[in-house]
Amino acid sequence: MNTQALIETVRMLVADDKGLLAMDESNPTCNKRFALLGIPQTVEARRAYRELIVTTPDLGRCISGAILYDETIRQQKQDGTPFVKAIIGAGIIPGIKVDAGAKDMAGHPKEKITEGLDGLRNRLKEYSQMGARFAKWRAVIAIGDGIPSTGCIEANAQTLARYAALCQEAGLVPIVEPEVLMDGEHTLQRCREVTEEVLRTVFNQLYTQRVMLEGMILKPNMVLPGLNCLRQETVDEVADTTVRCLMQVVPAAVGGIAFLSGGQSGQLATERLNAMNFRFKSRLPWALAFSFARAVQQPAMDIWQGKEANVLAAQKALYHRVKCNQAARRGEYNAAIERM
Ligand code: 13P
Repeated sequence: MNTQALIETVRMLVADDKGLLAMDESNPTCNKRFALLGIPQTVEARRAYRELIVTTPDLGRCISGAILYDETIRQQKQDGTPFVKAIIGAGIIPGIKVDAGAKDMAGHPKEKITEGLDGLRNRLKEYSQMGARFAKWRAVIAIGDGIPSTGCIEANAQTLARYAALCQEAGLVPIVEPEVLMDGEHTLQRCREVTEEVLRTVFNQLYTQRVMLEGMILKPNMVLPGLNCLRQETVDEVADTTVRCLMQVVPAAVGGIAFLSGGQSGQLATERLNAMNFRFKSRLPWALAFSFARAVQQPAMDIWQGKEANVLAAQKALYHRVKCNQAARRGEYNAAIERM
C-alpha cells in the first residue's frame, strides 16, 4: 500500500475549500429522476446529461473530485473525448462508485445491506487503470419502529470496512458513506443517537480491518430531524448537533469529512454546511466539505429537461450551487452570494 499517495489524494480532495461532485447515480436512480421531468430514460440521455456536468465551465475551481458510475466512466463526450480525460483536463480527480446497491436484508424487514464485495479486488484494479483515484460505497440505515437493528448496523459497518481496506490495497482512497436516512417522523435527537451509534460501529470496524484513517474520507449524513417530524430545528441547531456528534466519534486522524445531501434542498444543505464551518471550522481536526448529488444537480436537471438549448443555463445553475458550497466551506456563504 502506498500510504503517501493515498494521503496526498485525500489532501487534494479537500484542498482549497473545494468539494466532491457526486454524479454516480445508478441507471435506475438516474432514470427515476429523468422520468419525473419527462426526460427519456436512455443511455444517450444519461450520457448527454453527464457531458453537461463535466463540461461546465470553471467547474474545477470549486470541485476537486467527481464520483462516476460504471456506465459513465466508460463514456465519452460527443467529440469522442473520454469523460475521464475531460474531468482530469478540468483539474478534477475522477472517482467511482463501486457498491452494487442496497438490497433487502434477510431476516431484517425494512432494512438494507449494501452488496458488491464479490470480485471487488479485480474491479478496483480495472477502475484504477481507467484513471480513478478514489472510490465510494454507500450503506443506508433507516430509522423507524424498532430499527435500525444491531444486525443491520454491524453488517453494513463491516462491509464498509472491508471495502475500504480493498480500496487502500488498490491505491484508491475510499469514501466511506454510512447514510442515516432522513425519511420518517423521528426527532433530531433520535437521528443524533442513531448517527453516533452507526459511526462508532463503522470506526470500530475500520480499525479492526486495518484501514488507514488518514487515507480515507468519511461521507456522513448531517444530523437532521425526520422529514415528517413536526419540529424542524433551525440551521444553527442542526449545525451544532451535527458537529458535536462528529466530535464524539470521528477520530482526528481521518483525512476529511464530506457530507451527503440526502434529499435536502440545495439552499438548505448549503446553509447548514456554512453554519458548521462558520461556527466551528477553527476548532475542528478535519475539513468539513461536501459531496452532494441532488443538492448541487437538481436545479440544473430541472432547467435542462433533456434539451440541448438549455445546456448553458443548466451549467450556470450547477456552477452557482457548487460556488455557494465552496463559500459555505469557508463559512462565508450569505444571501447575497445566493442571489448572484
Ligand atoms: P445526495 O447528495 O443526493 O444525498 O447524494 C450523495 C450520494 O453520493 C449518495 O450516495
